Amino acid sequence: MKRKVLITGVAGFIGSRLAEHLNALGYEILGCDIYNFRNQFFDVGDSNHLILQRLRYDRIAHFLQKNQIQYQSIDLSDHGAVMTMFESFQPDVVVHLAAQAGVRHSVKSPMDFVKSNLNGFANVLDACKQYEVQEFLYASSSSVYGSRTDAPFKETDRCDTPESFYAATKIANEVMAQAYFAQYKTPSLGLRFFTVYGPWGRLDMAPLLFAQKMRKKQTIQLFGDGLLKRDFTFVGDTIFAITRLIELGVSRRGVDVVNVGHSNPIQVTDFVKILSECLGIEPVIELAPMQVSDVPLTCASDHKLVKLIGEWPHTSMKDGLTDMAKWLVNWQPA
Ligand SMILES: NC(=O)c1ccc[n+]([C@@H]2O[C@H](COP(=O)([O-])OP(=O)(O)OC[C@H]3O[C@@H](n4cnc5c(N)ncnc54)[C@H](O)[C@@H]3O)[C@@H](O)[C@H]2O)c1
Repeated sequence: MKRKVLITGVAGFIGSRLAEHLNALGYEILGCDIYNFRNQFFDVGDSNHLILQRLRYDRIAHFLQKNQIQYQSIDLSDHGAVMTMFESFQPDVVVHLAAQAGVRHSVKSPMDFVKSNLNGFANVLDACKQYEVQEFLYASSSSVYGSRTDAPFKETDRCDTPESFYAATKIANEVMAQAYFAQYKTPSLGLRFFTVYGPWGRLDMAPLLFAQKMRKKQTIQLFGDGLLKRDFTFVGDTIFAITRLIELGVSRRGVDVVNVGHSNPIQVTDFVKILSECLGIEPVIELAPMQVSDVPLTCASDHKLVKLIGEWPHTSMKDGLTDMAKWLVNWQPA
């Protein structure tokens, strides 16, 4: 019998790709997201909002509808709706990716993060307990490591000094999962993602944000004078790791967290150089001071991940950004 996987946040970057991949491997997928087709191009007077809605719409069409993957629109902060969805689908595996993402956004509007990242997470965790889901994987983040320069970041390191409210919600998720294991033996695995990029990616994150600006000949601001270093992970590598963790049933073993990132940070100025070569556009750069919530470095130790799943692919920045640039030019012709 096909194993049933519920993926939350499936109109998002990682979720949409994961749904297509697991579906191709023979899992039965239900994808859910707060995204609602009824107001797909509802204009709230914000061009960023419109383009984000279009991207979510296109991801669902491209990765889900084309493959006849079931989709449900739901707000995960609604406890009753979450329980009803679990009751009718009865998932074997839950991959919870839905969240309000974005470190900088959480400085401007921290309250936007409470509904999805705290209430939504608690509801999904509670449903996993009620329906005795044996495999619960959820998205955490490299941001839980806070501001530090000693690297690489290991899962055993202390994570209690977040630099942003977003990071605080991800630490809270890990702690909630720990408490549910202590109280009810609900197993879980938190996936600490490190700056995932690639085709169909997030328009608010540096790779696509910078690529869009370069194409419009707009100035790119490099905070921290461009000296910040980030451990970028190509989306295909991330999907490989999540899939192996599911196939091996790692999340059944108890309560745990694991880094999903390579120990290969790159300075933002070098990253911009590669991106500009991929696009064939000379960037206009302005160096700017570090912003509140910025951290100087992210750098994953992937020892634990490799111990769990064995070797995993490491797409080079050049190959990954070439793929991303090709997709962007096709998706959004100049
Ligand atoms: N992309 C990265 O580099 C990265 C890095 C670290 C952690 N993460 C985490 O990984 C997960 C997936 O990231 P992504 O880049 O695909 O993000 P994304 O923003 O593209 O996708 C998240 C999806 O969650 C949905 N969502 C938000 N609130 C919801 C709610 N209340 N009910 C139902 N759906 C809701 C959104 O509509 C969106 O489609 C997130 O939890 C994010 O915080 C991502």
